[in-house]
Amino acid sequence: MIDSEKGWTDYWRKDSADGEVFVNAEGERHPALAEFWQAHFSGLPEGSRVLDLASGAGSIYTHLPEGHTFQLSATDISDVALEALQDRFPGVSTVVCSADDIPLDDASFDAVVTQFGAEYAGMNAFAEAARLVAPGGKFIGLCHIQDGYIDSSNRQQLAEAQIVAEQEFIDHAIRMITGAFSGDSAALKSAQDAFVTAATPVGEGMRRCRRGIHTYLFQGFRQLYERRQQYELKDVLEWLDAMRGELDINLDRLSRMCAAALSESDVREIIRIFEKQGLKDVHCTPFETPGNQLPVAWNLTAQKGSKKND
Ligand SMILES: C[S@@+](CC[C@H](N)C(=O)[O-])C[C@H]1O[C@@H](n2cnc3c(N)ncnc32)[C@H](O)[C@@H]1O
Repeated sequence: MIDSEKGWTDYWRKDSADGEVFVNAEGERHPALAEFWQAHFSGLPEGSRVLDLASGAGSIYTHLPEGHTFQLSATDISDVALEALQDRFPGVSTVVCSADDIPLDDASFDAVVTQFGAEYAGMNAFAEAARLVAPGGKFIGLCHIQDGYIDSSNRQQLAEAQIVAEQEFIDHAIRMITGAFSGDSAALKSAQDAFVTAATPVGEGMRRCRRGIHTYLFQGFRQLYERRQQYELKDVLEWLDAMRGELDINLDRLSRMCAAALSESDVREIIRIFEKQGLKDVHCTPFETPGNQLPVAWNLTAQKGSKKND
């Protein structure tokens, strides 16, 4: 079991420098997210109390307007993530907690925001989010969407990573490189045959899906093997051992991301939860971005009436 809370840096930061999930072709934060959050933040009154749920290292707060007067808070299940957030945004008050059980007072925020976050904690996170919105305040979220751009890519990458694990690609690679360094040609031949059988479906996976641990591992090992005269056996074995850890992390992270992606029926359930909790004007639409045929998120917004009967 991977400790995604303690190992947050390895676990979530891999996608980009800031741990942002949705990046453009250059591996930078996608501009559509910046535009989305800048537009919402610019509509908030001065002094607004803002809470980011499952904030990670605070990607949303990189889109705050200059000179804002907001009081910022953030929660995440990972203390490592929140330490990283505080390094970047020292004034933010943080609470380590699961998004489905938040030890903060009812109605204490003018805006509760989340980006690829609350949905990791399940439906109760949305009840918690609604509870925390103050009268006149709002909820603004971008949440993983099932079968969207990110989810489809994650599912493909997960399927390919599972093939790597099932084929025991790393074990076969270890046997083959060890055989090559041993000088025992019979042992090498048998290890090579077994490796080819294991590696063929992994290599085919690169044609189905280029991005992912399977491609990195396949190409990386091929290069190391071809240039093995330049290395010591222990260096190659160390690399393969590190890749085994990477593979486990990828399998776990991709599974969690796939599980977090919200279906249309999940969204209907969230709308029911929000309305039960007194939120109104609940809107949930696919978040489309230029250059991506599939939506990248659900855009979920809601308001709380300013008076009791609103
Ligand atoms: C995909 S990252 C997104 C982080 C950030 N919102 C962003 O947009 O960069 C998901 C975050 O959810 C956090 N997380 C996972 N499960 C959680 C839970 N049950 N409660 C609170 N946070 C959780 C992780 O620690 C991680 O920081």
